Parts: sequence; C-alpha cells; structure tokens
Amino acid sequence: MTAPMAAPGRPVVTGVRPQDVQECDPAADIAGRVDDQSVPARSAVDIAAIRPAVTLCYLPGRDLDQAELLELAASIAGQPDLLEPHVAFSDDKRHYVSLHRDTHVDVWLLCWTPSNDTGWHDHDISSGAVAVTRGTLTEHNLAIGTQSVRTDVPAGAAFSFGPDHIHRLTGRDPDSVSVHAYSPPLWRMGQYTLGPSGVLRRRSVSYADELRPLDDFA
Ligand SMILES: [Fe+2]
Repeated sequence: MTAPMAAPGRPVVTGVRPQDVQECDPAADIAGRVDDQSVPARSAVDIAAIRPAVTLCYLPGRDLDQAELLELAASIAGQPDLLEPHVAFSDDKRHYVSLHRDTHVDVWLLCWTPSNDTGWHDHDISSGAVAVTRGTLTEHNLAIGTQSVRTDVPAGAAFSFGPDHIHRLTGRDPDSVSVHAYSPPLWRMGQYTLGPSGVLRRRSVSYADELRPLDDFA
C-alpha cells in the first residue's frame, strides 16, 4: 500500500496520537462549508404560503416526508383554537403538550421563554418540522472547530429537517410558541454532552424526557 501523502504544512495522520489531534486545524477544514443549505432554518418558508394537503384530518396512514411534515405543522399552526388552550410558560420547566400521536407521526405544542433551552440533540430516525406561531425561536446548529450557527425563526415561519439533523432550540422572545411534527414518531432521541476531557458523547434518552442542556458548551 502506498503511504499517504501529506498536504503542504499538514502532518500525515497514520494513527490516533494526541499530538496528531492537537496539530489538526478543523476550523480551516470546514471554512466555507457552513452555508444556508447546511442550515434548514435558513431555508424557512412563510407558513401562510403553504397549502397543506396533509393535515390532522387527512393523514396518509404512512410515515411522512419532510415536505409533508412541513404541511402538517403549518396546518396546525393555523388553528389557534386548537393551540391556545394549551399555551403556558415557565422559565424553570419548558411547557409542552402532545397534540397527536399515532403509528406514523406525532405533533407537539411547545412554549418558550428566553430561559428555555433544549441543549444539543438529534431525533434518532425521525424527520421533523417546526412552525413558529408566536414570538421568535433561535435554532443553533452545532459546528466543530468553528462557532456554532444561530438562526432566528420568527412567528409565521416554518422549516423541516431530516434524521441527520443536530440542533439546539432556545426561546429568543418571551412567550414564544411553536408546533413540531415528527415522523416516524419520536421514541428515542440523542442528547450531546462533553466528557471531562472535552470529548463529545451522545446519550440516548426517551422522547418523554424534557430536553435540557447537559453541559454548557456552544
Ligand atoms: Fe429538536
């Protein structure tokens, strides 16, 4: 086998040694790669422009794709009579209510204050969509070797993502409200934490657990 060639000024990494890790420059590796396509919230659409074919009354009886989840979340976001009775806020414990759950999809109402923070997490095998109905949320996208990306999502906007998505949601404005739809329904989720040495770890948690930061890292 031919020995790996070193890029000018870069070490040849042939094994995992502490000195190799320290010499890497991940910020340079990903420079320029964080674009809007990498950040679903930056492709958020106007809820009012969505003409939903998928609603709670017209579910296809199978798992939904991202576009269908966006339609479903948008359709529910447009039903204040359904949402308002469940709206409540707490700085100490994020308020959320299950609006629907079946074999293929689950839908949640989430209420936010600026103190509410999910921490970094993924949704295991589920795709999802978020429709903001009141206030503004901030979506954070985890980046390694550079600052994480923050995108504000105001009321009236919605975005979707696949099961590859890792994010953190916080309430930017007091009394913010959002509708979240997932397919297949959330069952397990991954929460991310830093170990004592700074190594990133994933902890599998139940969908019924309240997501909150395990460590304070950005
Ligand atoms: Fe999430």
